[in-house]
Amino acid sequence: MENEVLDGDCLEVLRTIPANSVNLVYLDPPFFTGRKHSSSSRDGSKRYSFDDIWQHSSEYFEFLVERLLLCRRSMKADASIFFHCDHNSTHIARQALDLVFGSENFQSEIIWAYKRWSNAKRGLLQQHQNILFYGNGPDFKWNPAFVDYSATTNVDQILQKRTRDDRGKSIYATGEDGSIVFDGNKKGVPLGDVWNIPFLNPKARERTGYPTQKPLLLLERIVALASDEGDLVLDPFCGSGTTLVAAKLLNRRFLGIDVSNDATTLAKARLEAPVRTDSALLRKGVEAYLNNDPWVEAHLAGLAVTRIQRNTGADGLLKDGLGGKAAFVRVQRQGESVAEAASALKKTVRSKGDAVGVLIATESDLFGYTDSDIHILRSPALQLSELVNLPDADDISDIPMSRTA
Ligand SMILES: C[S@@+](CC[C@H](N)C(=O)[O-])C[C@H]1O[C@@H](n2cnc3c(N)ncnc32)[C@H](O)[C@@H]1O
Repeated sequence: MENEVLDGDCLEVLRTIPANSVNLVYLDPPFFTGRKHSSSSRDGSKRYSFDDIWQHSSEYFEFLVERLLLCRRSMKADASIFFHCDHNSTHIARQALDLVFGSENFQSEIIWAYKRWSNAKRGLLQQHQNILFYGNGPDFKWNPAFVDYSATTNVDQILQKRTRDDRGKSIYATGEDGSIVFDGNKKGVPLGDVWNIPFLNPKARERTGYPTQKPLLLLERIVALASDEGDLVLDPFCGSGTTLVAAKLLNRRFLGIDVSNDATTLAKARLEAPVRTDSALLRKGVEAYLNNDPWVEAHLAGLAVTRIQRNTGADGLLKDGLGGKAAFVRVQRQGESVAEAASALKKTVRSKGDAVGVLIATESDLFGYTDSDIHILRSPALQLSELVNLPDADDISDIPMSRTA
């Protein structure tokens, strides 16, 4: 039984899977949210949904335990299981997994962290989900992964071998003459349990429209860590089939189950033509998106401005707006005329509808420039240089300290 997507309640279908045959289980069941999840396909032609409504947590607990017992039955001795949940259900899932797999087989609680934007939330905005990882036994299969050392790690820490002293304390190994002992095997820092992987962007090509679809990058990481090529990966709540696609792309065999025929149909279609969205964010790093122009930073320092990135016309937004409207702010660049800066800012302002622009002028080519759409503020540095360069100190009183054109 392999490379199939099966319809039905996994409670029934799991019984048909041969015992001791699966190398890795990933499951992403409903999260005990108390609501129905629904969303539409990319072209809007299809509505997908699944229920996540329970009378009581004990009902949810039993639902999990019954199915986890069958998962365990299907697993090989060196298999492992990754259970995806969130703050609604971690406490229940942990108890269910401890009961079925034994707390001694708990390995990690992986925090899948991502950025989300919302102003509506009272309290803390949820920016992570949890993946509970258990081995089926102590000898679970594991393919180590490493990440780069942090920028603060010094070269000795990277190069030098570690050993233990008489009291068992970890120390750097040294030669008889006190010289460092080179550890040629260090590949980096072992991958940690906090994973920053972007949430699927609404426009991502990979997004199918299935509610709560997980990113392939997340599943590929799990599959790569805990299974080898040719291994059998099982997802008993496969939804749109993300785990199965990850397994297929990584040359594993797969088995998916879902109670919704819409889900299994979608999963089969995805498996026929897998689409994977490369994360430019992960590839380039967050820093690549930061507008770190020191000139801009210096002129915005201390102002009540929310910085915006990846916009060619504006550097930020006034936190309080202006006259009840969104107010985009731009710092005039070195070598840029006021007219050029205002024109770039205006493009952004116009594209966002009912908004205004505030240009921080940094060069003294203002004379005669007016624009009814853009408020022009002369930067303190500009005002200061005008003050210092005054031909006659008596003229000081004539210098306007701010001007709106
Ligand atoms: C959170 S979604 C899975 C999303 C999936 N990981 C993805 O990336 O698309 C949970 C899925 O569990 C399915 N489901 C709910 N109860 C089930 C059951 N008893 N047996 C099998 N599938 C079930 C739902 O239809 C839904 O597709």
